[in-house]
Amino acid sequence: MAVGIFDSGLGGLTVLEAVRRRLPEVAFAYYGDNAHAPYGVREADDVFHLTCRGVERLWREGCDLVILACNTASAAALRRMQESWVPPDKRVLGVFVPLIEALTERKWGDNSPPREVAVKHVALFATPATVASRAFQRELAFRAIGVDVEAQACGGVVDAIEEGDMILAEALVRSHVEALKRKMPHPQAAVLGCTHYPLLEHVFQEALGPEVRVFSQADLVAESLADYLERHPQMRGAGGEPVFLTTGEAARVSDQATRFLQRKVTFRPA
Ligand code: DGL
Repeated sequence: MAVGIFDSGLGGLTVLEAVRRRLPEVAFAYYGDNAHAPYGVREADDVFHLTCRGVERLWREGCDLVILACNTASAAALRRMQESWVPPDKRVLGVFVPLIEALTERKWGDNSPPREVAVKHVALFATPATVASRAFQRELAFRAIGVDVEAQACGGVVDAIEEGDMILAEALVRSHVEALKRKMPHPQAAVLGCTHYPLLEHVFQEALGPEVRVFSQADLVAESLADYLERHPQMRGAGGEPVFLTTGEAARVSDQATRFLQRKVTFRPA
């Protein structure tokens, strides 16, 4: 048994790296739906069906626990999956809640009423579908009051990363940060609400300025998974090398992943 990590493409590798660092003794299987990326411009129904297909594939790989290392799927599909689709012996978890717990200074399982928190002005950078879902604001409102969120839909960034065009991706990030700053000139914190964006975290930080605290998910999700596995040890598989599956062209996806992670990664067809 392994823990499954799902993403529309390469972005979830940022989460996989962090969880492998935090939990070296756990086995992981990764699924990138590269043939259908980006999800961020798809209808919620479409994201739901594609995500279910990927999660089923990971179940067949022996992953009873699957992490949606994709904000778009977490925002547009996870609730529906948990309410109507996931069988009782399986678990599917998203990446939103650990991030919001960090932002609102909460520990896991703290269900106390929403309260005032230190951060008041938050910039959210995410895909168009994640922004449209308003899932981030909804989860935040359960935990904090008085936080002003300005969301910037970062069209084009995921496509550019998936294509390996990092020059275009950087230029788009700078222009999205400018657009955000026109709406909110002085954010205190910025949330990178897409797992592809940590690949450009330095560009976000530089464009935002050193006074803005950038929250990126990978380490927060890793910490939260470690905590979850502590409480649910039956979901923790035996160690081993990770398995990489893709719906895209395996050789091409392997090359891009190898470039991003700076070590050899070999995907095989899902
Ligand atoms: N990494 C996915 C996310 O976190 C990218 C979504 C997409 O494919 O557009 O939202």
